[in-house]
Amino acid sequence: MTIARVPSLEDLGDVNGKVVLVRTDFNVPMSGPDDARVVTDDFRIRAALPTINWLTERGARVVCASHLGRPKGKPEIKYSMEPVRAILKTLAPGVELLENLRFNPGEEANDSGFVEELIAGVDMYVDDAFGAAHRAHASIVGPPRSLPSAAGRLLQKEVEVLGQLRDSPKHPFVAVLGGSKVSDKLGVIEALLETVDALAIGGGMCFTFLAAQGYPIGDSLCEPDQIDTCRRLLEGPKTIHLPSDIVGLDANGRFATFGVRLPDGAKGLDIGPGSAAEFADVILGARMVFWNGPMGMFEDERFAAGTMTVAQAMADTKAFTVVGGGDSAAALAQFKLDDDVDHVSTGGGASLELLELGDLPGLAALRGAPNVR
Ligand code: 3PG
Repeated sequence: MTIARVPSLEDLGDVNGKVVLVRTDFNVPMSGPDDARVVTDDFRIRAALPTINWLTERGARVVCASHLGRPKGKPEIKYSMEPVRAILKTLAPGVELLENLRFNPGEEANDSGFVEELIAGVDMYVDDAFGAAHRAHASIVGPPRSLPSAAGRLLQKEVEVLGQLRDSPKHPFVAVLGGSKVSDKLGVIEALLETVDALAIGGGMCFTFLAAQGYPIGDSLCEPDQIDTCRRLLEGPKTIHLPSDIVGLDANGRFATFGVRLPDGAKGLDIGPGSAAEFADVILGARMVFWNGPMGMFEDERFAAGTMTVAQAMADTKAFTVVGGGDSAAALAQFKLDDDVDHVSTGGGASLELLELGDLPGLAALRGAPNVR
């Protein structure tokens, strides 16, 4: 299935003098005390600038709106947009930013009254919040019901790149998946197995696959109720690369390198050097690669080598490389390799859901807007 086209900024017509509500994903990482938070990575703010600038250069008045974190429908100082607003002010002077959308319970409930509040005095709507396009929330699906609407440049690029991966991949096409839970990624694994030539699986979720092959996995992460599913996937026609060595802690809590069989009490926390080299070879031999999820607990430098090797191979390969948001994007940034891949998606959950389902509520909403109907 092809991802259907979404309207672009050009489909809005003349924006001069118009008030444009831009739904952005400024859900950025922050640190510091609740009342003095600082933004630790402004990637998502900078990523919205092409759209904001396109609109302001053509005379529009831009009002941005975003969620931040997961407040429960009421204001919480730690989720205030103020630190983001300060950065936006320097990057795009004159652009307004509403307070955290999730301070209002109507946002997640997709309440029509809240939609009316959001669009009061607004002429047009632009969705550039790819990272939130899988949420059928008020600010995502509400405004296009009545306002001329379009996808911003960031959203459009994400749809194009992920659409290419899903609908017209270049072969050999390889997906490298990590992260802790198989159950979270089952849908996308099944969808990817339709199109990839090979899948490489690391991270916490590899242990459920290794258990499905009958290997002892010690005290490593495991989802016993997914073992049969993993076995079924392994029996399928596509090659699934699993680690052949593991790095972790032995039963006494000491750093250790193991083969594929983990002794009792040992815990696997990264793929081993042999597996990392094997995964790198798979990446280097591909023409298209999608990577989502770290290979191990890379925040601890003892268990970062597997993720680092995969990240370096992503940077070195001649293949077209796409990294699906979240932790793998954070790992790339930590290793300063984010400029060396072709596309770093701003959406973790959204990129996986788009690859799996071929559409998202935010995209479907834009196609139903009055200027495209
Ligand atoms: C994200 O960071 O993945 C997006 O901003 C979506 O956030 P959410 O998972 O809280 O909806």
